[in-house]
Amino acid sequence: MRPFAERLSVVAPSITLAMNARAADLKAKGVDVFSFGVGEPDFDPPKFVLDAAKAAIDAGCSKYTAVSGIAPLKEAIAAFCKERRGFEVTPANIIVGVGAKHVLFNLALALYEAGDEVIIPAPYWVSYPEQVRMVGATPVVVVTTEESGFRLSPAQLEAALTPKTKAIVLCTPSNPTGSAYSRAELEGLAAVLRKHDCYIIVDEIYAELVYDGFEHVSFAALAPDMKDRIIVVDGVSKTWAMTGWRIGWAIAHPKLIKAIDTIQGQSTTNPTAVAQHAAKAALAGPIGVVTEMRDAFQKRRNVMVDGLNALPGVTCRMPEGAFYAFADVRGLYGIKGPKGVLANDEDVAGWLLDVAHVSGVPGSGFGAPGYLRLSYASSEERIRGALSSIATCIAQAERV
Ligand SMILES: Cc1ncc(COP(=O)(O)O)c(C=O)c1O
Repeated sequence: MRPFAERLSVVAPSITLAMNARAADLKAKGVDVFSFGVGEPDFDPPKFVLDAAKAAIDAGCSKYTAVSGIAPLKEAIAAFCKERRGFEVTPANIIVGVGAKHVLFNLALALYEAGDEVIIPAPYWVSYPEQVRMVGATPVVVVTTEESGFRLSPAQLEAALTPKTKAIVLCTPSNPTGSAYSRAELEGLAAVLRKHDCYIIVDEIYAELVYDGFEHVSFAALAPDMKDRIIVVDGVSKTWAMTGWRIGWAIAHPKLIKAIDTIQGQSTTNPTAVAQHAAKAALAGPIGVVTEMRDAFQKRRNVMVDGLNALPGVTCRMPEGAFYAFADVRGLYGIKGPKGVLANDEDVAGWLLDVAHVSGVPGSGFGAPGYLRLSYASSEERIRGALSSIATCIAQAERV
């Protein structure tokens, strides 16, 4: 067989999907696995969304649409931005893709090339650096620590910026840490970015899932003077529990939107027509359905994080948003497991899966060794069950 493209040699497969596959193997053997590895809400999408999709099918929405998305969806996105994010855009600023991940990949294709650097604060969502590498550019990972709430400081940003910096990717609230930037923190970063001409990509896919009254501040609303180089990425996956519908979008300068339109027009064409109608209904529907899910997530977060902190050898920061607990599991190193002594976060994740039947994702996959990401998009009962299973295993564990 002739060799595959060289670009594959620099791309790592998704660690989240690998852990899910291990958990699926156990499930297939009949084990009741507590699945906290996946990044998707366990809720169903709101009924009015499903009804809108059915109506779209009946109305014959079975044909190609405009590559960048149907007009009513773009109008709904613009209205949502104005109402919920505090900035105004026109349909020319919007392109809809097959999920936020697809939109981010198109952005990488449109913006980066060999020699470009892209600043990515760690812990990061797994796809950011891989997409940068896939197009031949260089991810510049800046490590943030739990002490700073896993947030990039203006000084760290300043130190990482070079003339080669093409873009920075910010994710707030963050996958995997759940950390979110306050207005003052974003203003600090904006002050640095004002002096450096680079694109500012802000992934706001978890913006509606913030807790204890935390105010999500959209970078586009905070720094309108930089609007020509700010790109907002969002989608319906997390907010309306619509991961499988595959609708996400980018909001950017019309010239960049046109460039992505060209790429999309030669690759996927439009996102699925029916899914676009469902997404439009979600965006235009009552926000109460979202706040209800958010309130449930907040309760689950408290159960999960309090429970993790009660485990000997585990600590966990209380996250402001998203649906992930990011626990420091270094205190579990030294436990003797069936496959050897636990010496890193991957060992801990494997041990928890094999012994406690709890699946999480090791922090090293997110650029944060020593941590474990546990998604709390499960019922409180399942979260309590998993915590008690872990507690039993830790209590019974032998240490070296
Ligand atoms: C931070 C972040 N951005 C983007 C995505 C992709 O979402 P979508 O389902 O819209 O592709 C995810 C999904 O896990 C995510 O966690």
